[in-house]
Amino acid sequence: MNIDDIRALLRGCDQTHLLRFWDDLSARQREELIGDLLRVDFEQVARLIPTHVQRVPDAAPKARIDPAPVITAKPGSQRHREGAARGAAMITSGTVAALVVAGGQGSRLGFDGPKGMYPISPVRNKTLFRLFAESILATQRRFAGTVPWYIMTSEMNDRASRDYFAANKYFGLDSDNVIFFKQGVMPAIGRDGKILLDDRHRVAMSPDGHGGTLRALACTGALRDMATRGIEAVSYFQVDNPLVTPVDPVFIGLHDLTGSEASSLAVPKADDLEKVGNFALVNGKICVVEYSDLPEHHARARNPDGSRWLDNASIAIHVFSRRFIERLTDDIHAVKLPWHRAVKKVAHVDLDSGRRIEPESPNAVKLEMFVFDALPLADKTMVLLAKRSEVFSPVKNATGVDSAETARRDMIRRAADWLQGCGVAIPARNDGEPDAVLEISPLYALDAAQLAERITDKPTVPPSGTLYLE
Ligand code: UTP
Repeated sequence: MNIDDIRALLRGCDQTHLLRFWDDLSARQREELIGDLLRVDFEQVARLIPTHVQRVPDAAPKARIDPAPVITAKPGSQRHREGAARGAAMITSGTVAALVVAGGQGSRLGFDGPKGMYPISPVRNKTLFRLFAESILATQRRFAGTVPWYIMTSEMNDRASRDYFAANKYFGLDSDNVIFFKQGVMPAIGRDGKILLDDRHRVAMSPDGHGGTLRALACTGALRDMATRGIEAVSYFQVDNPLVTPVDPVFIGLHDLTGSEASSLAVPKADDLEKVGNFALVNGKICVVEYSDLPEHHARARNPDGSRWLDNASIAIHVFSRRFIERLTDDIHAVKLPWHRAVKKVAHVDLDSGRRIEPESPNAVKLEMFVFDALPLADKTMVLLAKRSEVFSPVKNATGVDSAETARRDMIRRAADWLQGCGVAIPARNDGEPDAVLEISPLYALDAAQLAERITDKPTVPPSGTLYLE
């Protein structure tokens, strides 16, 4: 596209003000502005302005909420065995891919760099990316199959993430099977429907949310690449959870055996008002209801036996069928996930004075998609209940709840559980926490069962000792 084409495009959607300063820009600035403009899907934005910017979208009709049905698969049960066998066969046949979303801004953690490069493991201080890479490598070895790994980055962290993998030789993975793709952006839009300029030559933009994963898979060709490789099931997880098993054969196998298009792991809620999404049945469809949308009387409701009525939290671990993602994205300008609006303060250039303004109150609409909104669109959805201590401990904050400190503690606790299950004595502190720093590399054991197979000479762990198994 040359500048005349762009001008015509902007005229067609009433956004020509984005070229207001064109004549004053240097050649380099012009290039940057064109780069920004080409990343905006103006067709999509034009559709959303009347419904999501100039009006507040109609609130969803008050629907009846019921607990969502969930299944369990305890180790040793028949369902667990069947899921494991099917998942293993799928991995061996090369039809499973891993997908991590790592495009977020990580503003709460305040780490300078992609969150995947955050060092987290208790003994070796391995980064999140390294842990996942080792887990995928171990899965490939265990099941003698190839698991391509798709990594969604954003404009902000794409280069640094790619360089990190290259500098570390892809942690032993074949670089052809590590596929980076960049997530899309959405411009910030003023209440008058005009897209804001962040600078005279830059559009104000932000990532389009983790739901943007599906759109980005389709737009970047990653989805086509999956089809070419014969991928049928996509194992989705977030970059900030060091306890996740990126490719869990039981979960993936049960997704397939239940004929599901979308599947999710759930864990029991930590407390009534925990800030997590809640699995619920809404209008007969399994959905995730955000904590902020859940009426408090539902959050606090109890069953006759005193247990929590709505007790299944979403931890953003899913399996999606590749064909389902294709169906949701067949019209790339109108991906079938709903858009959510947030009214935020966005600094912008005043079109008359050319000066940058820091607003004192929210002045613009930002639009995002959420990946869990895909669940009710699936023909069949399966929710598998997991043990929180086995699968979930996110690194969101610098300190306190859901921080690096709690994630390390939970990694040590899980390693202690697995080791004790094999008869290894773990010293305990007065408060009951393990009195040792423990780390089991995924390359040594991916789960408790594999640890039991491997660990022949039981290690001795002295009080306040350190144990690393690889
Ligand atoms: P969060 O919602 O925790 O956001 O993302 P964040 O950007 O990482 O952190 P804060 O809120 O700024 O502190 C959950 C997961 O979704 C990914 C993140 O990388 C993380 O794995 N994500 C989020 C994206 O990939 N893109 C987005 O636009 C948003």
